[in-house]
Amino acid sequence: MRSVYIETYGCQMNIADTELLFGHLGRNGYQRTADPQSADVILLNTCAIREHAEERIIGRLGDLVRMKNGRPDVQLGIAGCMAQHVRDKLMDRLPFVDFVVGPDAYRRLPELLGEPGGDPFVDVRLDKAETYADIAPRREAGVRGWITIMRGCDKFCTFCIVPFVRGRERSLPATAIFDQVRQLAADGYREVVYLGQTVNAYRHDGVDFAELLRRTNSIDGIERIRFTSPHPSDMSAAVIEAMGQCDKVCPQLHLPVQSGSNRVLASMERGYSVEQYVDLVDRLRKAKPGIALSTDIIVGFPGEEESDFEATLSLMRQVGYDSAFMFKYSQREGTKAAKWDETVGDEEKSRRLQAVIAQQEEQSAAINRKLIGSTVEVLVEGPARRRDGWLVGKTLHFKTAVLPAGGGIAPGAVVDVRVSEATAHTLVASA
Ligand code: SAH
Ligand code: SF4
Ligand code: F3S
Repeated sequence: MRSVYIETYGCQMNIADTELLFGHLGRNGYQRTADPQSADVILLNTCAIREHAEERIIGRLGDLVRMKNGRPDVQLGIAGCMAQHVRDKLMDRLPFVDFVVGPDAYRRLPELLGEPGGDPFVDVRLDKAETYADIAPRREAGVRGWITIMRGCDKFCTFCIVPFVRGRERSLPATAIFDQVRQLAADGYREVVYLGQTVNAYRHDGVDFAELLRRTNSIDGIERIRFTSPHPSDMSAAVIEAMGQCDKVCPQLHLPVQSGSNRVLASMERGYSVEQYVDLVDRLRKAKPGIALSTDIIVGFPGEEESDFEATLSLMRQVGYDSAFMFKYSQREGTKAAKWDETVGDEEKSRRLQAVIAQQEEQSAAINRKLIGSTVEVLVEGPARRRDGWLVGKTLHFKTAVLPAGGGIAPGAVVDVRVSEATAHTLVASA
């Protein structure tokens, strides 16, 4: 048996793709190894979302090449979004890379790898029908299972590389999804997270996302349902209603807004205004009282004036996000916005980024502090990393909580605990 080592970068969908690769390669004569030094195949599953992501990967490739030195039979390759983004250029620029496979070429990978030390190859064909619905992933053991329910994206926000590297939007058959959910429940998982770049645009054979949530809600053994990332424009009344009516759908949503300025949202081609987004938040709060919201923010988009940036800060205060991922705009070759001059210098981008982060930290801490003294329901995952004798898990609102171990509490348990301390990122439960 040959062994394969995979290192994963980027979003949850890439992590899920790595599980898919392990499943597929596992059934085709490869065993998984955690040690690149001894692996026959070394694979980086890459991300292209920002320049920084690509630079990190190039740096890491250097280390791996040194590891491969003197072992000519080892095949070193790149999969995922950056592989798709830079394609053949990658082979020219990095002659030590043996293969490049895009996100739609994983089915062919065992065949392409061929014999030890096989010829170099590039397979970056995008396939608008590929969903890997019939390929069972090999998951990490745990209490939360991630299931990719749709692939690709058709939105083409002007800053974003995803539609170019992941191809057109397509959904998996609902039956294939429910098979996976039942398997997760049978394997002891308690929570399922549905994944897609515009996850709520899910549609297959007349089953839409609202229907998918309702049917998932009735699967025994699964106690919590989440999904990420929904697009505000696809948040239909039916989806909001289903979220409200399905008791297992958690009161938590990651709802990327990107900017609080209508001018910037329009040039990003996000498809909604600030007013529409705020109205959506109101409707979600009515349907799911106490829902925790998080978001993604980009600062320094071309044309973003100080007043636009202030509007973003103001919207973030108005919505009162529990948390946020915040980024400096990064120009991506091939996108529409890449043709526009950058108008915000890097120093100013950094200043804006620090300002949104500082505001959000304060807000997150304030929201979490209000939980001190209350009881929260925690799905226990396992030992806490930095606290001996403590366990870690997530609350219904997807907040990290640590609690003292003992009392026979095992991973997979759902326990009610009292919050005694809180920071912007963690709740601490008393013994
Ligand atoms: N499909 C999701 C976003 C996936 S990418 C959605 O539409 O909400 C995750 C986040 O990366 C985006 O929400 C955005 O905030 C950020 N991002 C994407 N492209 C970027 C770029 N070129 N520069 C900076 N941040 C970017
Ligand atoms: Fe990118 Fe926009 Fe698609 Fe999200 S919806 S993946 S930001 S193009
Ligand atoms: Fe990155 Fe691709 Fe995900 S670009 S964020 S790994 S879809």
